[in-house]
Amino acid sequence: MITEMYRVDGAHLNKEKIEKAASILRAGGLVGFPTETVYGLGGDGLNPDSAKAIYAAKGRPSDNPLILHIASRAELAPLVAEVPASAEKLMDEFWPGPMTLVFKKSQIVPLETTGGLETVAIRMPSHPVARALIEAAGVPIAAPSANTSGRPSPTQAAHVWEDMQGRIPMILDGGEVGIGLESTIIDLTGAEPTVLRPGYITPAMIEEIVGHTELDLASLGQPEPGMRPKAPGMKYRHYAPKAKMTLVDGEQSAVCQKILELAESAEENGKRVRIICTEETASCFAGFDVACAGKRSEPEEIAHNLFRILRDSDHDGVDILLSETFGETELGQAIMNRLMKAAGYHIIYI
Ligand code: TXA
Ligand code: MG
Repeated sequence: MITEMYRVDGAHLNKEKIEKAASILRAGGLVGFPTETVYGLGGDGLNPDSAKAIYAAKGRPSDNPLILHIASRAELAPLVAEVPASAEKLMDEFWPGPMTLVFKKSQIVPLETTGGLETVAIRMPSHPVARALIEAAGVPIAAPSANTSGRPSPTQAAHVWEDMQGRIPMILDGGEVGIGLESTIIDLTGAEPTVLRPGYITPAMIEEIVGHTELDLASLGQPEPGMRPKAPGMKYRHYAPKAKMTLVDGEQSAVCQKILELAESAEENGKRVRIICTEETASCFAGFDVACAGKRSEPEEIAHNLFRILRDSDHDGVDILLSETFGETELGQAIMNRLMKAAGYHIIYI
């Protein structure tokens, strides 16, 4: 299959190309498109064959449900069995934006889209290209992140190209995404709102709107045998760079010291080493290959850069990735959720 890629963002939100993408979606085809979090791989959310095509293109297990993307609140009611009061409050506050809510599904949502679950995850993105595409398609768009299963989520159209070229007919290039981490997922089908995947919308922000929230612990740490995260996707290996990745956690100067030690010994063994550092620590690593993720005081910047840094390490043939940790803030904890998976939970505490 030939994949076409078109630049569609900003001043030249290209109506003609968006209409073409929408007609591909309506016909059961797939389109890569930008959202404010990461790029999505979209298909018609009400067409079971589109869901199957998405799983095939990503190489993703079909028990891992897809998020439905809508452009207006009016599109919600037909997709869900009920809208709890907490959902109304959260949607008023955070939609459109990087928040996904899990509801009991209605009959029209196919089980192929929800990975066999009786619940459905729904999100209203704020990105103008995503919104224009959903409106033009006239159907909810089912979209996982547009990476091959297991790889870092795409934050640029070039990343989607890398993973999906030849597998899908079209990619809409809206430039680099703003946030760089996938949406916060909140389950509203139980007694208390429960965060299934941490993200840019933090537990404190959610609690301010709905009071108490739970955190699905199974989604956070290393899944133990028998532990079943409520978001099925959280149990799979994710974000993995080709390099062997090690995280070092502790007091800053001790962390730098340990990373230097590890880097030196890996280089002596002929390995290509890269250190993921921050502006505050970059000077410790003079002479080493570093990727600076941003300022520690600005976790938004680190979130924005993280997946690109992981992909760049693949392109550059890095064997060993060493990184400090970022868990001091709530957004930092969302970053750590991804980084721990990327490192296969390989972390040294000093
Ligand atoms: O920011 C995002 O959410 C991006 C963009 C493209 O919107 N999408 C995204 O989709 O990250 P994906 O498929 O890569 O991750 C969706 C996660 C998976 O962990 C999946 O298991 C969970 O959402 N999920 C989907 N439907 C669910 C449901 N009904 N109940 C629980 N978890 C669900
Ligand atoms: Mg994903």
